Amino acid sequence: MPAPVIAVCCSGEGTNLQAIIRAIRRGRLRARVGVMVSDNPGALCLRRAIAAGIPTVVIDPRGFGSREAFDRALSRILEKAGARLIVLAGFMRLLSPWFVRRYRWRVLNIHPALLPAFPGTHAVRDALRHGVRVSGVTVHFVDSQVDHGPILLQEAVPLKAGDTEENLLKRIHRVEHRLYPIGIDLVLRGRVTVRGRDVRIAGR
Ligand code: GRF
Repeated sequence: MPAPVIAVCCSGEGTNLQAIIRAIRRGRLRARVGVMVSDNPGALCLRRAIAAGIPTVVIDPRGFGSREAFDRALSRILEKAGARLIVLAGFMRLLSPWFVRRYRWRVLNIHPALLPAFPGTHAVRDALRHGVRVSGVTVHFVDSQVDHGPILLQEAVPLKAGDTEENLLKRIHRVEHRLYPIGIDLVLRGRVTVRGRDVRIAGR
């Protein structure tokens, strides 16, 4: 049986994309990245995808009159690629209610904090400034609210004395790169069921 197709959406560096590519190559994730979509033509993630032989598409949000119009264009790309699961990896866009309904429990996101603490774009900095002793990583399904959907996996990252945003982010990234392929693999293997906020993982 051919490996299930995923689509990865990125806006920036793409280190999680790279981790997914690595996990596939090493046989730890049975999947094929059918397309990498970016809303940012200058993003490093594009170069990473091209280097790995992954088809890339850039959609410029400025060309669309509404969030939903952008999402409908995105959906056409995902359908063409035959994506079963959509993996957001640093995709800096809010998805429309239309998109979220259309792909209910088929979109995963990764967040650099233990949700529901510190949602938003500056989670690592916010956690550090708050003085937490423990932060971490959350892999969750996407719903219509920001960093809010049902939680699939979480892993704690303890803070160390004198931590800066930079070195905390480095440790968080290390965990992200290990955890995201695991979450994607669980979903693709059909081991995950979602009912409301209740996420069950078979055999875990
Ligand atoms: C990650 O820290 C992820 O948690 C957040 O965006 C960042 C993306 O980093 N959603 P990268 O582009 O994968 O390097």
